[in-house]
Amino acid sequence: MSGPNTNYDPVEVAPLSAESLAEMVAEARSAFAAADTVAALKQARSEHLAERSPIALANREIGALPPQARKDAGQRIGAARGEIQAAFAARQEEVAAAELALTLAAEQVDVTLPVSRRPVGAPHPITALMDLMADVFVAMGWEVAEGPEAEGEWLNFDALNLDSDHPARGTTDTLFLSPLERHVVLRTHTSPVQIRSLLDRELPVYVVCPGKVFRADEFDSTHVPVFHQIEGLCVDKGISMAHLKGTLDHLARQMFGDVRTRMRPSYFPFTEPSAEVDLECFVCHGASVGNPDAPCRTCRSEGWIEWGGCGVVNPRVLAACGVDTAVYSGFAFGMGIERTLMFRNNATDMRDMVEGDIRFSRQLKGAAR
Ligand code: DAH
Repeated sequence: MSGPNTNYDPVEVAPLSAESLAEMVAEARSAFAAADTVAALKQARSEHLAERSPIALANREIGALPPQARKDAGQRIGAARGEIQAAFAARQEEVAAAELALTLAAEQVDVTLPVSRRPVGAPHPITALMDLMADVFVAMGWEVAEGPEAEGEWLNFDALNLDSDHPARGTTDTLFLSPLERHVVLRTHTSPVQIRSLLDRELPVYVVCPGKVFRADEFDSTHVPVFHQIEGLCVDKGISMAHLKGTLDHLARQMFGDVRTRMRPSYFPFTEPSAEVDLECFVCHGASVGNPDAPCRTCRSEGWIEWGGCGVVNPRVLAACGVDTAVYSGFAFGMGIERTLMFRNNATDMRDMVEGDIRFSRQLKGAAR
């Protein structure tokens, strides 16, 4: 049995001496302490704990020791490595906490600072209401049609069966564009889009035409020379006045809630029969009629509000557009958007709608929903 190798002095294997190991620990500690970012600490870790670090290299020396010395050396190295690892872990926590604190400080938001309130633009109440009315029809599968504001005189009048001696065709009502021989007017209603739609489309036709119209009118609380209308036209097989009535009632309910419409006989050259369409007062529902104790400002105690014109499309109009009147018939209607806005949102002066004062739009913001 061989005795212990008395010649062996573990202190002679330099990297394994207690002093060297203590030095490694001290160096690792100071490197970790000096690293003040996560990245620097990572670098220090690779220098003091990874494969080619002094402690790892020292560990390899164990193999070169005589067996009886290995355990001792192994324990020393393990203890040293443990210290380095603990130092690293402690420093890692510190650095991470410091970095988080820095980030939080840098990204701090003072929620009490005043914001710059730049107003967000929004559609004009007239535009919003026009879209809303058109949407009622789009939801039923109708199309939205548009036409030019400068319109041929023939389309604005003749095709709609307004004779050349019709009073509306005079220069007192209609704005003609010069030269007069070109026969171009600023359209006085959206009805010419009916003609354009019939000429452009295959039958059946279901269109609404919202848009701007022009008349040589006064500028007062109930008249403006540039205003808006929405026109509706349906041409199909077997269309009657009953379909018109149902459609107008539907529109009225969508716009004003639980109200009915009423038709009063009237005359328009492009419809036969023709009617004025009145809206049941959506405020008093007629309760103010003949009741001076409870007057209604909205309908002036009449129970009904004049809303627009309508009728069964005159076969002469259909024929002018090449429609076979033995097979097809239709209805049409048209109403003012400004009037609708007046009733619906209690806007009493039409001039507010064109003067561009932002306070008016702001007041009605969200009303056209
Ligand atoms: N165009 C008419 C106007 O401006 C309104 C109107 C009446 C339109 C009857 C129609 C209708 O489509 O059938 O006063």
